[in-house]
Amino acid sequence: MSCPSYTLGIETSCDETAVAILEGETTLVANFVYSQAELHARYGGVVPEVASRNHLRMLPYLIRETLTHAGISINQLSLVAATYGPGLVGPLLVGLSHGKGIAFGLDVPFIGVNHLEGHIFANRLGEPADRGSPPFMALVVSGGHTSLVAVPEYGEYQVVGATVDDAAGEALDKMGKMLGIAYPAGPAIDRLAYRGDHTAIRFPRPMEAAPGFDFSFAGLKTAVLYHLRKYPNEKPEDVAASFLASVVSVLVKKSIDATRRYRFERLVVVGGVAANCHLREALVPCGTEHGIKVFFPSLKLCTDNAAMIAAAGAFHFLHEGKSDPLSLAPAPSLGL
Ligand code: KG4
Ligand code: ZN
Repeated sequence: MSCPSYTLGIETSCDETAVAILEGETTLVANFVYSQAELHARYGGVVPEVASRNHLRMLPYLIRETLTHAGISINQLSLVAATYGPGLVGPLLVGLSHGKGIAFGLDVPFIGVNHLEGHIFANRLGEPADRGSPPFMALVVSGGHTSLVAVPEYGEYQVVGATVDDAAGEALDKMGKMLGIAYPAGPAIDRLAYRGDHTAIRFPRPMEAAPGFDFSFAGLKTAVLYHLRKYPNEKPEDVAASFLASVVSVLVKKSIDATRRYRFERLVVVGGVAANCHLREALVPCGTEHGIKVFFPSLKLCTDNAAMIAAAGAFHFLHEGKSDPLSLAPAPSLGL
């Protein structure tokens, strides 16, 4: 099978409308993300119907812009990859339908991509070229998921642990709401925490000492709620720093333990929360201490984007000759 020269990637599983063009398997030629976050901020979270309508409004424009920026014509595309799950069904349908329509019109293959696998492929883009090579343990940590995934090969995934309730990003967003920080609160909490004292409040470190590799963040969020009721004048920066210290401590402990238990030498951290500076600063030295190399995608490729979707699609097409029928339906609850 010859290498697809240009893959168009489309991502619309939540509130980011994203389009990218990849040359071959790893050369990113254009990558655009339109974040709807501001539109949803006033509701305190993503409103599916608002997201669908805005994907529909933005996607054709964004595809044209991406092609222009890449300096190629639409006829040069040789593969179309779009996220088909997990995510919100309406938003997924918009991206999937656009992708299928373009593939049908151009008579090129279409492939549906699992968003979670896409996050893992984000680490394959960028320097050094061998950064993402399996085998490795992956920590997929975002607004919708927190999982530890053993990756012996691309395409082979064993989930060894996952959150039993809220995802880490979801807990950060909900905690931010309590402090009056607009959705999504993760980046603002990241910055705020640098000004606070992370030892000011001793929040629990849920499941840190429990055997196994599962997580739980819902109780931590409740602990903040009770703390703020009792101490309404607590400094927001101290709350942010202390909360983040708990989240980071649990993520570091579980992911290093899992990497060691499964005897991997690499840990790959992906998803929106992988952009967190405190997590990055804590994980790297801890990995080094245990002979584990820790990799993160560039900040732009941690949060939702279509470059990672194109990368996963191109990989499966090239190595497995895989493509999907145009009848492929959205899969809102898709797992790895
Ligand atoms: O991967 P992503 O863009 O979407 C999902 O697939 O969920 O992740 C979004 C999540 C949000 O919860 C957001 O608050 C969080 O990632 N996030 C961060 C940072 N940047 C984004 N959390 C902590 N620190 C950051 N710098
Ligand atoms: Zn995501």
